[in-house]
Amino acid sequence: MRIEILASAKEALNKNFKGKNVVVIDVLRATTVMITALKNGAEKIYPFKEIKEAIEKKEQLKNGLLAGERKGLKIEGFDFGNSPLEFTEDKIKGKSICMTTSNGTRAIENSRSADSIYIASYLNVTSIVEKLMESDKDLVIVCAGTDDEFSLDDSLCAGIIANKISEKKQVLMDDFTISLQNLAKYSKNIKEVLKDSKHYSYLKKIGYESDLDYCLTLDFCDIVPEYKNHEITNKKASLS
Ligand code: MLT
Repeated sequence: MRIEILASAKEALNKNFKGKNVVVIDVLRATTVMITALKNGAEKIYPFKEIKEAIEKKEQLKNGLLAGERKGLKIEGFDFGNSPLEFTEDKIKGKSICMTTSNGTRAIENSRSADSIYIASYLNVTSIVEKLMESDKDLVIVCAGTDDEFSLDDSLCAGIIANKISEKKQVLMDDFTISLQNLAKYSKNIKEVLKDSKHYSYLKKIGYESDLDYCLTLDFCDIVPEYKNHEITNKKASLS
């Protein structure tokens, strides 16, 4: 199996992922939100690049809610912003979430040519690795990044996934992927590695410090979200 890590949503644009599996990561915070929402009983999530697409979809649904951010802040008129702590069971059980974010939902759309697309964050690393072990297809890990640039929060998570797979089977990796695998191998404390990074510091500055510890929790749940036919659903029941 070949594993390749892409540093940002832009790198996935116009790439052909046919014959490959893709994992999309936006730790801070889009994919963490998706995993949390599914864990807390959301029926499905519809990701969109544009605000108006999310609004149009919501209008077609009986159980739809709008979620998303621009510059990290809730979009005017939306039901939720992009803080995972907002997505509690009492608010979202049985609901469909129409979601648009600056980088995460774009990374998913840009990966659409892949055979299978899974959604990961620190919350579900081990379950995602188990799922990926079921296939021998080459794997591309698409980090959403921040504003089309490399971001450490996603890349470290991608490195952890690559490293865990390499412990279980023979893999081929390019130098960028090897460097992140090594970063993962020798990073004992995720928060310590990320505490001065750009998006982490930005979210802290705009008042979302409480999201950060949650978003960096390893293996919080065993949700395995899959994006298929324009919607994200859970492929594994939560045990916790
Ligand atoms: C994104 O998709 O860019 C993010 O999830 C931004 C954020 O809300 O932190």
